Amino acid sequence: MCGIIGYVGNRPALPILVEGLRRLEYRGYDSAGVALIDQENLCVTKSAGRLSALEQVLDHSMPQTTGIGHTRWATHGPPTDVNAHPHTDTSGKIAVIHNGIIENDRALRTYLQRQGVTFKSETDTEVLAQLIAMFYEGDLEKAVRKALREVSGTYGIGVLCADEPNVIVAARKGSPLIIGVGKGEHLLASDAAAILAHTTQVIYVGDGEIAHITPDELRLTTLDAIPVAKDVQQIEWSLEQIELAGYDHFMLKEIFEQPEVLENCLRGRLDQNENAIRLGGLVDCTKKLTGAKRIILTGCGTAWHAALVGEYLFEELVRIPTEVEYASEFRYRNPVIDEGTALIAVSQSGETADTHAALIEAKQRGALTLGAVNVVGSTIARETDAGVYLHVGPEIGVASTKAFTGQVAVLAMIACFLGRRKHLSPCAAAEFIAALAAIPKQIKRILDTAEEARKVAQIYTDRENWLYLGRGYNYPVALEGALKLKEISYIHAEGLPAAEMKHGPIALIQEGMPVVVIATAGRQYDKIINNMMQVRSRGGSIIAIATEGDREIAKQADHVLYVPDTIEPLQPLLTVIPLQLIAYHAAVIRGCNVDKPRNLAKSVTVE
Ligand code: G6P
Repeated sequence: MCGIIGYVGNRPALPILVEGLRRLEYRGYDSAGVALIDQENLCVTKSAGRLSALEQVLDHSMPQTTGIGHTRWATHGPPTDVNAHPHTDTSGKIAVIHNGIIENDRALRTYLQRQGVTFKSETDTEVLAQLIAMFYEGDLEKAVRKALREVSGTYGIGVLCADEPNVIVAARKGSPLIIGVGKGEHLLASDAAAILAHTTQVIYVGDGEIAHITPDELRLTTLDAIPVAKDVQQIEWSLEQIELAGYDHFMLKEIFEQPEVLENCLRGRLDQNENAIRLGGLVDCTKKLTGAKRIILTGCGTAWHAALVGEYLFEELVRIPTEVEYASEFRYRNPVIDEGTALIAVSQSGETADTHAALIEAKQRGALTLGAVNVVGSTIARETDAGVYLHVGPEIGVASTKAFTGQVAVLAMIACFLGRRKHLSPCAAAEFIAALAAIPKQIKRILDTAEEARKVAQIYTDRENWLYLGRGYNYPVALEGALKLKEISYIHAEGLPAAEMKHGPIALIQEGMPVVVIATAGRQYDKIINNMMQVRSRGGSIIAIATEGDREIAKQADHVLYVPDTIEPLQPLLTVIPLQLIAYHAAVIRGCNVDKPRNLAKSVTVE
């Protein structure tokens, strides 16, 4: 979603803002803008299009030392120069950047229009700028406080006022916001990646808090002006982790990082001597979690697919009834939840608005809440009762790859952890843990043959419709493979449980239609071979994902991509890799912008 950056200090702000925006561009990239303030002048530059378009119209010699910047993912009004942030009030004194949605903007707009205010843009953010200006009587913080009392919805904002040249006022409700603490300077950002080059010391702004930031001082209060004390925290991620390191795209880098980051994810958690899983984050809630009558896994997009794998894992290893819910549906459905329910929110960013809302809903109804989250200190991570971090490092590519394998690995560990406390025998746990420990090296082996996936992509990228079929643990992988392909290459793709094909989608199959079938060794192998034959006899072209050593499958498939053998519950960690590679290469061959696919955003912080 939108990215926010701010700087107040002694150095020229503009290069810091532009560099921050570049690192944030994966959050939204349809327009961008900056506002700088100096000697009671506010200078705003903005432009539709990518950051590079803004850079072309900026005067890079501007020396001002206070400024804010924004990269947008449009919600209210199309991506035009006028709708780009920062937004100013009519007098041009107040400038606002905003991530989120002001839900009562229509009513506020009408009210302000009746007061004689004329609007330039269609955005909800301009409403906020005009409202702050209306309340401004020489104290920006006070005016922001008053304006926010009138507002409903979500926001992470940064506000400048021409009359207060060394001040940024920031506030948050529902959208992420952190403050970087430097020497004689402070930075404001929606995401740690934007400020890592300058500081690793941060303060997380909480919901309903307002920050008054100057070069030397940082004051946090609640909306009701009650002071808030906060510790400075250290970000663990390094600058190298958020750079391309020689790869053409972040997505490719993140696919190839998987052996290493999964080692990090598993490190210290697999105890092969004791046949046990060690998860420090679950120690305090182990009893309650083991006693749960029902587990709900929730998330969005790729995280939802990982949760589906989790459902199979939990039911098989833990034997507690488990359901997977789209976070966006769950929260509005009046779900039946009680104290016997445990909800696990699965999220890379820890900021996805729907997942966060589902978590709050479950919490309010008395459920135990857990997180399987990547970003340390993110909203979901902070608001769950307990959790397990993915530790797969920053994911920048909009199409999620290493977060998926991290999420599945974490859910597998939680399942084994709980399973051992229920019915899973030491022997079965030992086999599971040994198989999990082998996964990183097995992924490396698949990546060593990545060229095979590229060749397959090359053959079929001109086809506009693909099917992905899987059964059991590989059904969610079929969904994930189809999602990867459509989100970055804009090819229409559908993932299905293989047996469902005959109930309708089989009508789509015609000569040469690519059908990716995950047909690894396991309980349903024979059945999936039957499904392949059904596709073949109708002229479909089969790309099979199979287990190394399976010689028979080549007779039924047009192409075979092999993965090493592992136990069925862990197959998704391997079978997804060739599908990530096919999607990546298809997108590159079609000339698509892999890391910034059209209309998408990395972290969706609006409903
Ligand atoms: C967006 C991204 C997806 C991601 C989903 C959930 O739709 O484009 O890649 O899977 O959000 O994000 P989360 O950060 O909660 O895992």
